[in-house]
Amino acid sequence: MSPVIAVFGAGTGLGASMAHRFGREGFDVALVGRRPDKLETLRDELDGAGIRAEVFVADLAESSSMRGLVQEIEERLGAVDVVEYGPVSADLSFTPAKDLDAAALSALVPLFLLSPVEIVAAVLPGMLARGHGSILLTQGSFAVTPVPFASGPGPVMAATRNYVHSLAGELDGTGVHAGLLAIGASIDRSEMSELARAAGDDSGGGRGTVDPDDLAELYWGMHVRHDVVEIVRPEPQPATAKEARS
Ligand SMILES: NC(=O)c1ccc[n+]([C@@H]2O[C@H](COP(=O)([O-])OP(=O)(O)OC[C@H]3O[C@@H](n4cnc5c(N)ncnc54)[C@H](OP(=O)(O)O)[C@@H]3O)[C@@H](O)[C@H]2O)c1
Repeated sequence: MSPVIAVFGAGTGLGASMAHRFGREGFDVALVGRRPDKLETLRDELDGAGIRAEVFVADLAESSSMRGLVQEIEERLGAVDVVEYGPVSADLSFTPAKDLDAAALSALVPLFLLSPVEIVAAVLPGMLARGHGSILLTQGSFAVTPVPFASGPGPVMAATRNYVHSLAGELDGTGVHAGLLAIGASIDRSEMSELARAAGDDSGGGRGTVDPDDLAELYWGMHVRHDVVEIVRPEPQPATAKEARS
């Protein structure tokens, strides 16, 4: 039986690269997202590369459905060995912290905090019983480094980051690994970067760009070696002497 990776939020950027990278290693792939046509295109592309993938249409903001979704994936493909969670869409917007309120934050909590916790709760007992597995959670780097005028998802993702770090410590020595990748650049080939490019911005909104194949390679290393809990890309620059003094 082939190992299984479930890509929660499988688009043209990191999701596609994760599917190809793990698929090349013999994994079957569960592709999760809301638009069947996009998922079917990716599935067909993987099929052409000799990788078995199946489509699961689901809204990851519906956290109460996550256990049922995992059950469906495991019924169709087998036990999930690797979870990668990184849903994002172009309608994700930022809010200045001074304008945030409970309603704005609450709207983000199911997708970015509750659902990943529910998915982990569903897969973890099996992973622990088998003695291996990886839980890989992708975020924006604003979860690590707050940015003025770009709050909203940041505080919610920071809570999820806190959870992943606790989980990683608790899983130490079990054969199951939890880790996260925090990204502060525009991901090439993602819908968001393509939209920006179509609007004439090739610079990733001034943040630079990153190849999702390189990110998937980082995740493959994390999965194989279990050696690191958090990777930030691009790597944070050392503070200048002036910044260090302030
Ligand atoms: N793209 C960037 O430039 C960028 C920059 C910094 C950080 N990141 C982070 O990197 C990760 C990967 O980003 P990416 O753009 O490369 O992703 P991607 O794999 O290209 O696409 C993610 C997919 O998530 C799906 N999704 C969004 N909301 C969903 C929902 N409620 N339920 C189910 N699926 C949903 C979208 O498909 P549907 O709309 O069809 O559901 C989309 O295709 C994300 O965690 C993101 O926050 C991205």
